[in-house]
Amino acid sequence: MAIEEHKSLKYYNTFKIDCIARYFSSVDSIESLKTALQSKVHATKFILGGGSNLLLTKNIEALVLHINLKGIQLIDEDKSSVVLNVMAGENWHDFVEFCINNNYGGIENLSLIPGNVGTAPIQNIGAYGVELKDVFIDCNTLSINDQSEKKFTKKECDFGYRNSIFKHKKKGDYIITSVNFKLTKINHKKMIDYGSIREELKKHQIHSPSIKEISEAVIRIRKSKLPDPNELGNSGSFFKNPVINNIEFKNFNENFPKAPYYKLSDTEYKIPAAWLIEKMGFKGKRFGDAGVHKNQALVLVNHGNATGEEILTLAEKIQSKIKEEFGILIVPEVNVV
Ligand code: EPU
Repeated sequence: MAIEEHKSLKYYNTFKIDCIARYFSSVDSIESLKTALQSKVHATKFILGGGSNLLLTKNIEALVLHINLKGIQLIDEDKSSVVLNVMAGENWHDFVEFCINNNYGGIENLSLIPGNVGTAPIQNIGAYGVELKDVFIDCNTLSINDQSEKKFTKKECDFGYRNSIFKHKKKGDYIITSVNFKLTKINHKKMIDYGSIREELKKHQIHSPSIKEISEAVIRIRKSKLPDPNELGNSGSFFKNPVINNIEFKNFNENFPKAPYYKLSDTEYKIPAAWLIEKMGFKGKRFGDAGVHKNQALVLVNHGNATGEEILTLAEKIQSKIKEEFGILIVPEVNVV
């Protein structure tokens, strides 16, 4: 197992923040991961996946373990579905493409989401009416403490909106090494009534889309709104959409009758954080190299050499303005380290 010292993490996080790892090792097998976890070079281990949901605000005084486990295996199949075991280090979108090419349905709406397969369950990635939990069976993990292997069922993962057990109760305890997914081979359950998908398909005169056509439509929509991390550092949505109760909602709706909202239940309403941010005039604004994306206000961007602290300062400025104006607290969905 090769260990590097003082390694820049700039190309290991999609925000392209230039922080330094005291020690760094890229692991490509479960065995080398176990060895690395027992390594004595540094008592603290920092687990790094695709780096797409991470804001680094300081150098990492630890042994950084880059999860580079690869492989996709078909482990079960019947007339209508397949079960695939996918290693944590596989790039998420490469996996989506693999599924489209093999006509496996279920994750076409999740096309082009940055990051890796192993980190996707942590925040239950979602877009255009589909969430990872819809196709998830279970995942294999390794305990950071004692290197024992443990399987987490879907129920145990306790998935919620951009949330799972790996973000709260078991935060920092386990490394996801692979994920098992169930996907359809026939009768794909197509989700095209969310957001602008149907509109985008209509524009291309597609009435009964294949999963490939849905994926292509999602890619076009995302490309038009969301910046490509290879061109402009970012971490997708920086904040979660806030959920408020019916009393707060009544008050909000009276004051801002034009604001969009999504009713979750009789007592809960989700408000698009992007609308709140845009309303406060932050959309497209730039403070040094830290900024808010011009096409989607929920996305913070690094125009070049922003530090993580500068991005965080901007996030806090946005947060407090929104709290002041709307009385609503928006919280990051990105892990701030
Ligand atoms: N809006 C604005 N200004 C903007 C953008 C949006 O006012 O700049 C308002 C509009 O009213 C729009 C509403 O916000 O109708 C919702 O916008 P959008 O459909 O773009 O979705 P979102 O709620 O901003 C969420 C996810 C995205 C996902 C899209 C599509 C979260 C935190 N974000 O964004 O996920 O792609 O829905 O399903 O739930 C990500 O997590 O990194 C991500 C990009």
